[in-house]
Amino acid sequence: MKVCVACVLAAALVWSVAGLLPPPQKTYSILMLLPYWGKSHRNVFMPLSEALADRGHKVVMLTMVPESSTHPNITEISFTLPNMTSLTSLSMFDFTTTSLRATYMPAMAREMYKVPLVKKLYKERKQFDLIVVDYTFGQVVYPFVHDVSYITIATMGMEPFLSGVMGNVLSPSYAPSLWSVYVGPLSFWQRLHNTFLHIWPSILWKYWTLMPGVQREVWQHFPDLPPLLDIERNQSLALMNSHFSITTPMPLLPSQVEVGAMHCRPAKPLPQDLEAWITGAGSAGVVYFSLGSIASGKSMPSQYRQVFLEAFRRLPQRVLWKYEGKLEGASDNVRVSSWLPQQDLLAHPSVKVFISHGGLLSLQESIFHVTPLLVLPIFGDQTRNGMFVDSSGVGRALMWKELTVDRIVDVLTDIITNPRYQENAARISASLRDQLTTPQERAVFWTEYVIRHRGAPQLRCPAAQLTWVEFLLLDMACLLLLVLLLLLLLIRRLLRAISAKLSGGYAKQKTT
Ligand SMILES: *[C@@H]1O[C@H](CO)[C@@H](O)[C@H](O)[C@H]1NC(C)=O
Ligand SMILES: *[C@@H]1O[C@H](CO)[C@@H](O)[C@H](O)[C@H]1NC(C)=O
Ligand SMILES: *[C@@H]1O[C@H](CO)[C@@H](O)[C@H](O)[C@H]1NC(C)=O
Repeated sequence: MKVCVACVLAAALVWSVAGLLPPPQKTYSILMLLPYWGKSHRNVFMPLSEALADRGHKVVMLTMVPESSTHPNITEISFTLPNMTSLTSLSMFDFTTTSLRATYMPAMAREMYKVPLVKKLYKERKQFDLIVVDYTFGQVVYPFVHDVSYITIATMGMEPFLSGVMGNVLSPSYAPSLWSVYVGPLSFWQRLHNTFLHIWPSILWKYWTLMPGVQREVWQHFPDLPPLLDIERNQSLALMNSHFSITTPMPLLPSQVEVGAMHCRPAKPLPQDLEAWITGAGSAGVVYFSLGSIASGKSMPSQYRQVFLEAFRRLPQRVLWKYEGKLEGASDNVRVSSWLPQQDLLAHPSVKVFISHGGLLSLQESIFHVTPLLVLPIFGDQTRNGMFVDSSGVGRALMWKELTVDRIVDVLTDIITNPRYQENAARISASLRDQLTTPQERAVFWTEYVIRHRGAPQLRCPAAQLTWVEFLLLDMACLLLLVLLLLLLLIRRLLRAISAKLSGGYAKQKTT
């Protein structure tokens, strides 16, 4: 039985109440740019574009995934690049070895501006009142946002690099980086490692792998463009897909607005046959298994597939596995489907545990709908998310290489039978839902605010314009050191003079 369902449901009612915002005085046209081939990022954007479209604004979305909205005020322009399709056929562990951003983004910057649809949209870019960019892979579309107002959505949540660009430099003494593996107060060595994880990737990225590669390609198409890093610094606002309930609380600028879990919504009824199958599991309940939209079940190496199949055979639960294609050798309690209504499943009282890769959206949905997790991180921020799940007690995290049949059965049984996971999930869910305005309303408000105030320069923190030397007051420190040094020299001079005088006087005394 799900704990505290009533109080969570009460909060859900608050969550879904919309319309606190007065209707807009004018309607705008807004361009959204999502140069990313996974569907998950579009899922983050869609609640904002739908809310804006409901308010009468015209929204155009440039994406790399098939159209999904039927809203009359939303136009989706979908484009593909010939060799980007190879990404979808990668084995899931290729993601850990390939530096995706560094390999694919320069190629994207080279190819995308040859696509007629993209070229046409580029020419029309100044007709829009605002451009919204997906920060995660957004560097390739910075040519669009030169000389216009734009905001970003940080789909991966708080990114220290983005925060630094806006003038809010987060200290590695406590702030996790995207690749961080620590939670809670850090020891000396952890702080040292965390500092490295903050500084090294951003140096690599800025001066070595990513930016120079993208920059080179972009300058081929747009020779007069200012450096991408300068364009990046000119963003008016960042909507961040994070919430303090499910990350480390961090200081924010007025231009950094948390809209985490914006895409989470109250559950809808399940398709009838699925509902019947789930209820058929009885009191044992159901295990839901999905590795997200990028790493598909099919891309899982076969030794792991065998381990899972054997573990599931031993479970008294039924197992719902999001898997593309035919799965050989599955026991009777396993049901396979290539697409499943994830949020509606997670909200179902019979779904006891979610086996996930620990993608941020999956984590948010699971906590929002109070379902404990077993996280098996694959790449990117998933290790960090797994650490959060483990340390906050909403589930467990396992490394792929420690997976055995016994271990999977033991850990799943622990999560299902021990009520503490469910209780922790309910507590954190209640905190996540307990907000004055919904994340969607905040996103709408701040988007319109930036348009109303013509880029809202009043939000900009002056720190964004400082060099490192100025920001860290290194020049002050030098001056201070210099003054100290001079003082010391002066004192030494004085002491010498005094002692010379004294000893001189003493010598004189002796001779007389
Ligand atoms: C679309 O926008 C128009 C105004 O531009 C508005 O009147 C209409 O209600 C919007 N449509 C929907 C379905 O919200
Ligand atoms: C994509 O194709 C172009 C040629 O059409 C090639 O030059 C480029 O290296 C390819 N990019 C990747 C990432 O494979
Ligand atoms: C910076 O942003 C402002 C408004 O947001 C815009 O008017 C200006 O042209 C932008 N500058 C560059 C270099 O993009």
